[in-house]
Amino acid sequence: MTTTPAHLHGLLARPGAEALRHSRIREVANAGAGRDDLLAFWFGEPDEVTPGFIRDAAIASLNAGETFYSHNFGIAPLRQAIAEYSTRLHRPESVERVAVTTSGMAAVQLAGQALLTPGDRAVVVTPEWPNVVEVPRIMSAEVETVALTCSASGWTLDLDRLLEALTPETTVLFINSPNNPTGWTMTAEDRDAILERCRKTGTWIVSDDAYERLYYEGNGATPPSFLDAAGPDDRVISANTFSKAWLMTGWRLGWLVAPEPLMPALGKLIEYSTSCAPVFVQRAGIAAITQGEPVVTRTRDRFRRARDFLIRELSRIDGIEAPTPPGAMYSFFRIAGMRDSLQFCKRLVADFGLGLAPGVAFGPEGEGFVRWCFASTEDRLADGVARLRRGLRA
Ligand SMILES: Cc1ncc(COP(=O)(O)O)c(C=O)c1O
Repeated sequence: MTTTPAHLHGLLARPGAEALRHSRIREVANAGAGRDDLLAFWFGEPDEVTPGFIRDAAIASLNAGETFYSHNFGIAPLRQAIAEYSTRLHRPESVERVAVTTSGMAAVQLAGQALLTPGDRAVVVTPEWPNVVEVPRIMSAEVETVALTCSASGWTLDLDRLLEALTPETTVLFINSPNNPTGWTMTAEDRDAILERCRKTGTWIVSDDAYERLYYEGNGATPPSFLDAAGPDDRVISANTFSKAWLMTGWRLGWLVAPEPLMPALGKLIEYSTSCAPVFVQRAGIAAITQGEPVVTRTRDRFRRARDFLIRELSRIDGIEAPTPPGAMYSFFRIAGMRDSLQFCKRLVADFGLGLAPGVAFGPEGEGFVRWCFASTEDRLADGVARLRRGLRA
């Protein structure tokens, strides 16, 4: 980490921006720079190229000259397609509640910008993808975390603790289910109790639904969602993305479903940030969401097999406790006696070319754990496990 010479302090960003955390995953990745045999599982990214019919839709759009701005909320057929998709998965959804965004990350960011005033209190369920925890901090809000707990059978939410943390002073609850990194998935009972509590306290729920299609226990059904239970007048925002289920991380396309009264403000925030998502990317989104169900099914099946393989292999290693995640695409496992996950992951990458994400990147309760993205082939996973075994022996 670099320190700034005193005479340059006048050139720094505002304290809140300077105080944002560095990505510890990036720090580990830097430790592997220069290794040409690197086997990286640290980022949350499927290993396959976006399917051809989705790429073709973007190419056709470009060839048709669709190189102009669009409406802030996205082109009408994409908004319509998202509303129909959401209707299929959840409750009847109206186009007016849908805004297209330039990624799932931007969707969460916009929700934070729309709702949080400096000094407000936000509650985040952790361990959590670090980006979500930084959103309220960017808005100079106070963040209180409620940690999931891990046992041999998996990660669970202490519902009473979360309900206690939700007070009339809580402006927003950020919750991500299925969760990155743990795979924890909210039960319908959790959801109903959280919604009821938030109705009483006037708290907004920002639900990060990035992994709702990567749920392995529902026979293809989506896991419990706030969109199934909330009405149009509830303070519920769902943030979603094309990145994971349709293999589109590099396209930067996502969406929000939000109450209608919030939409004009969201439209202005989009106008003053990106104005809109590129039209050719939106055309690709239409292809994905209207014709991509086989892609989603195949991806989910492939990741389920990869999950089962990795968990079986990890569980054979002495000292590793790797619960089976019901959703998302990560194993978040504990290594007995390992107390500094950042150093451990740096050593793994520098000495063995194995790229994993340190648990501490996801909050202090992640220390002692390591995250492994299993969106990969069995061969690569097996090679990774062999390297991990060597790393643990060294
Ligand atoms: C929990 C969670 N939410 C949202 C996203 C957003 O993905 P993107 O910005 O690629 O749409 C990710 C990506 O890793 C994620 O893990």
